[in-house]
Amino acid sequence: MKAFDIVFNRHLVFGAGKLQEVPGMLSWYKVNKVFLTTFDRQNAGFLSLTEMLDKAGIAYVIYTDIYGEPDANCINHGRDLYLEEGCDCAVAFGGGSIIDATKAINMLAVNGGKIEEYQMEGREVVTAPPLFIAIPTTSGTGAEATKTAVVLNNDNGLKKSLYHTTMIADIVVLDPELTLSLPAAITAATGMDALSHAIESYVSLNATPITEMYGLAAVELISQNLERAVKTPDDIEARGAMMLASYFGGVAITAGIGIAHIMAQPLGGTFKIPHGDACSIFLPASVELNRAYAKDRYARVAEAFDVDTADLDADGATDALIAKIEELQKAIDAPSKLTPYLTKDIPLDELIDIVKRTTGHITCNPRPLNEDLMREAYEMAL
Ligand SMILES: NC(=O)c1ccc[n+]([C@@H]2O[C@H](COP(=O)([O-])OP(=O)(O)OC[C@H]3O[C@@H](n4cnc5c(N)ncnc54)[C@H](O)[C@@H]3O)[C@@H](O)[C@H]2O)c1
Ligand SMILES: [Fe+2]
Repeated sequence: MKAFDIVFNRHLVFGAGKLQEVPGMLSWYKVNKVFLTTFDRQNAGFLSLTEMLDKAGIAYVIYTDIYGEPDANCINHGRDLYLEEGCDCAVAFGGGSIIDATKAINMLAVNGGKIEEYQMEGREVVTAPPLFIAIPTTSGTGAEATKTAVVLNNDNGLKKSLYHTTMIADIVVLDPELTLSLPAAITAATGMDALSHAIESYVSLNATPITEMYGLAAVELISQNLERAVKTPDDIEARGAMMLASYFGGVAITAGIGIAHIMAQPLGGTFKIPHGDACSIFLPASVELNRAYAKDRYARVAEAFDVDTADLDADGATDALIAKIEELQKAIDAPSKLTPYLTKDIPLDELIDIVKRTTGHITCNPRPLNEDLMREAYEMAL
């Protein structure tokens, strides 16, 4: 068996209403002042969190200047506020954008410098960040389960990750009530992101027995619950299942991204395509392009996706998997084509160059990555 290395959160709490445990956790850690981030100050869950913090006498400062998917500027500004206010812990209440930005700010607060230095210049994290609690309000990225933050660089326009094992959230609170307000389109796209994590990690050359287990469990939960969560938004069981699926996908994707994310992340940054939408678009093409290199693995994913594979060979099961993904996209109205998002006229060579400079170095996709493969993926997604 191959050696591997994986980092987990210290404490995970799951259940409707579990948000109310957050003040007690902060009191136990004897924090002085919380750096609290959110996507919407008026969100009912967020208002209830601040009310509980007020009651418990816990000091906090709210940072909301994170617009869309996070860029370096909002992270550097957040770090300034964190330090000016003398914060000694961070709580992120939001989707992957809020969680990633907060993860990066909390790291910068004790390591110094600007986020670009860690993202582009290889500056190392040398001090473990303070306590970090992640409270996801979308079900897709699994950013609460990873050590990674994805950041848009304002100088060169590249969307690139940075990471360190100590950047992972110490505590994760998965409260499905917080996702009841998610609109159908965001539920759908973020759910497709979770599905991409589950499938891409399962066929990754760096998959481990742990990521495989989480990946298949995520596929099963998504196949049974994503459509339900989109169509019956108040279904707390489906919302809870999707929250777990997203978390599981986050653990799984630590095995490394494949061609769907390799294309989706940089092009998403360039054309301002929300991450989940970009992943949804590239997922079926990724299976098609990789199939000759991983068909037995895709056949196992098909089984987890509720395909009866008894009479199918690996090729037939892979066909069935692609059909299932496309059916799900249609059923939940998730995007399947890139064309509507191509807002600027950028030559394909330039786009491939952007991919090469951001995620093009990744080597765990089952089919070796090269420019031709990137071009093919792009053309299939049009
Ligand atoms: N760190 C990682 O491991 C990792 C993995 C995958 C993606 N990401 C990153 O995560 C980001 C995307 O995160 P996301 O897909 O969760 O989307 P998001 O955080 O950008 O949120 C999407 C939209 O949903 C809204 N929203 C969030 N929660 C809501 C709620 N409960 N009710 C109503 N509206 C709500 C937000 O305001 C926003 O407009 C990208 O930057 C992506 O690169 C990170
Ligand atoms: Fe993703």
